[in-house]
Amino acid sequence: MPEVVPLPAAEPGPEERPVLVLDLGGQYAQLIARRVREARVYSELVPHSITAAEARARNPRALVLSGGPASVYAEGAPRVDPGIFDLGVPSLGICYGMQLMAQELGGRVERTGVSEFGKTEVRTEGEGALFQGLPDEQTGWMSHRDSVTAPPEGARVTAGSPAAPIAAFEDPERGLYGVQFHPEVVHTPHGQELLKNFLYALADAPPTWTAAAVIEEQVERIRAQVGSQRVLCALSGGVDSAVAALLVHKAIGDQLVCVFVDHGLLRKDEASQVVETFEGHFHVPLVHVEAAARFLARLDGVADPEAKRKAVGEEFIRVFEAESQRLGKIRYLVQGTLYSDVIESGGDAAVAATIKSHHNVGGLPEEMEMELVEPLRLLFKDEVRRVGEELGLPERMVWRQPFPGPGLAIRIIGEVTRERLEILREADSILQEEIRRAGLYRELWQSFAVLPAIRSVGVQGDERTYGYPVVVRAVTSDDAMTADWARLPYDLLETISSRIVNEVPAVNRVVLDITSKPPSTIEWE
Ligand code: XMP
Repeated sequence: MPEVVPLPAAEPGPEERPVLVLDLGGQYAQLIARRVREARVYSELVPHSITAAEARARNPRALVLSGGPASVYAEGAPRVDPGIFDLGVPSLGICYGMQLMAQELGGRVERTGVSEFGKTEVRTEGEGALFQGLPDEQTGWMSHRDSVTAPPEGARVTAGSPAAPIAAFEDPERGLYGVQFHPEVVHTPHGQELLKNFLYALADAPPTWTAAAVIEEQVERIRAQVGSQRVLCALSGGVDSAVAALLVHKAIGDQLVCVFVDHGLLRKDEASQVVETFEGHFHVPLVHVEAAARFLARLDGVADPEAKRKAVGEEFIRVFEAESQRLGKIRYLVQGTLYSDVIESGGDAAVAATIKSHHNVGGLPEEMEMELVEPLRLLFKDEVRRVGEELGLPERMVWRQPFPGPGLAIRIIGEVTRERLEILREADSILQEEIRRAGLYRELWQSFAVLPAIRSVGVQGDERTYGYPVVVRAVTSDDAMTADWARLPYDLLETISSRIVNEVPAVNRVVLDITSKPPSTIEWE
């Protein structure tokens, strides 16, 4: 049975009344919360152990019970406080959540001997409110061994599938709805419409969770938190810190000061973009620390990947601390913690900060003892992007692919030198340009060039050359945990290859990385 992940205590609520998604241990619980938000209704993931009283205190618009482990009868199977169903709050049970509802409310769940996994034809019966406006037959993504064999008392069956005669039920009077299939996954083509039926028509939840609403709410929160105090923010060039900074700037204007430590390991033109955008366009007070020389000196002779990471991380903290000291006592520090970090950390701020810093240069200098301002704490990554767009952040920054904190230092395999950085930067910029031109940039999780510090023989003109090879790495992925190498079109690869060898004199060979993760990793170091 999959482990049930402990979840954060409820966030101090925003003004919006939430839809609470009770996590019963299913792999899609987080996805349900995201889908609800895509329908512009605010939702939060909460542990299934939430009591009826705690749930009531959140004044939820609706409850959704997620999928979960195989059987409601298994020992230790997660349950919910039965009082939840007496709150008079419209509730939707999905898969295991539906079975739990049936079990708790006088229905029956049995192992019928027939399971359904994958795409299944679902046929509606009668006029189910959940299925309003949807075709009578639709594909539903199933994953179950047990089946509901009797709906809760008073509920009527509204859909069936070949192996599950009760694929959906509803009791509009008590506001109880159940579906055996997963409306949240893309393999259920009408799933999002079904969720919208539940949210808008049955739970009466208006679609008001928009980027503009998020901005307004966060601006108020930030003002309430920091008052007239000054706030410090480290900009990295990535979308999270950029959006966090802009939100704070919108809230408190020049009480914010951003520090951008340019470690000289960014890609071509990236540093100037940050400066132009923040200082030039948004007029955010910005300290641009040009520290390339310091970082290069620190990296001198370092070839080991972890040693490089450590060197960059430590140097970053040193530079950042020195700069912030120069700015005088500042009590607040902006951090771009996302909702997924909060969920992963079980709501523990310290753990969330560690998760965040693990993925970013250096992270928070602990001894600075500053209070955190976390304006993205309730947002998923796609929502951060939408807020960024709404705030007018340039497309390039909003949609920037993930980029490691130690930057190009871990894309040069071997020692980092100024010359190699220049070569890699040029090759990488050609690659980026061509990927964008082909319209593939957003489809790829990451695409970049790697420079192994070896030489291979080539011939250019009448001369033999010893030049660097450049590796093209492009992957598709959802979360970087696993990744597949991208099947880039041959024509595009040809253009990339010939442009790199023609325009970057030190390179005489371009190769393509055709390994997925696992067994490889996305980065080469
Ligand atoms: P791997 O190479 O482990 O990378 O498949 C997974 C994701 O993490 C990024 N990555 C890093 N990000 N500092 C970072 O901020 C690092 O040291 C680091 N190493 C890898 C990588 O780009 C990919 O998105």
